[in-house]
Amino acid sequence: MQPKYPSDSLTTLTDIVLPGETNPLNNLFGGELLARMDRAGSITARRHSRRICVTASVNHVAFNRAIPLGSVVTVEAKVSRTFKTSMEIFIDVWIEDRETGIKSKANEAIYTFVAVDETGTPVAVPPVEPQTELEKLRFEAALRRKQLSLVLAGKMKPHEATELKALFIE
Ligand SMILES: CC(C)(COP(=O)(O)OP(=O)(O)OC[C@H]1O[C@@H](n2cnc3c(N)ncnc32)[C@H](O)[C@@H]1OP(=O)(O)O)[C@@H](O)C(=O)NCCC(=O)NCCS
Repeated sequence: MQPKYPSDSLTTLTDIVLPGETNPLNNLFGGELLARMDRAGSITARRHSRRICVTASVNHVAFNRAIPLGSVVTVEAKVSRTFKTSMEIFIDVWIEDRETGIKSKANEAIYTFVAVDETGTPVAVPPVEPQTELEKLRFEAALRRKQLSLVLAGKMKPHEATELKALFIE
């Protein structure tokens, strides 16, 4: 299969935070942000693979900054690495200053999607070719994250997670 660039499937969702989407502190409810990230990630996975894609795992979420009511929130999803049938998607969340329009990073997350056929059976996806320095860094570390996710899910034995183990032994 022909490799694709991360920019080929980049997905950007911009939306405002409305009153029904906040917690009692008037900040965006975490579950609402998870759903927005899942949506953007799923579109990226579909654009990359041109297949039906399902969320296999939420590998990491960092709610670093609260997002106040009325904020304009941009969720950006990019493929960081693909394996046989799975795709790691990196999500960056930005908020936009109302007066200056300057965007600052609020949160990030890493999701894994799997491409499947009409019966739900996993199918192969094209490889990804990182281009920017950040894309290359994320690509390099993705195998460790996949192994960690599989160990935590009980789908891989810790002693088989060789890339992950190397991180602690070196
Ligand atoms: C995701 C799903 C298709 C995986 O099916 P499976 O029978 O475990 O298939 P496999 O073991 O072949 O795994 C398929 C790929 O997913 C990866 N994978 C599975 N679980 C994973 C996890 N927790 N973390 C990271 N990768 C995972 C496997 O490593 C494999 O990757 P590869 O082919 O790129 O090497 C299946 O579990 C499923 O359909 N889950 C429900 C998805 C869903 O409904 N999501 C919405 C949530 S409500």
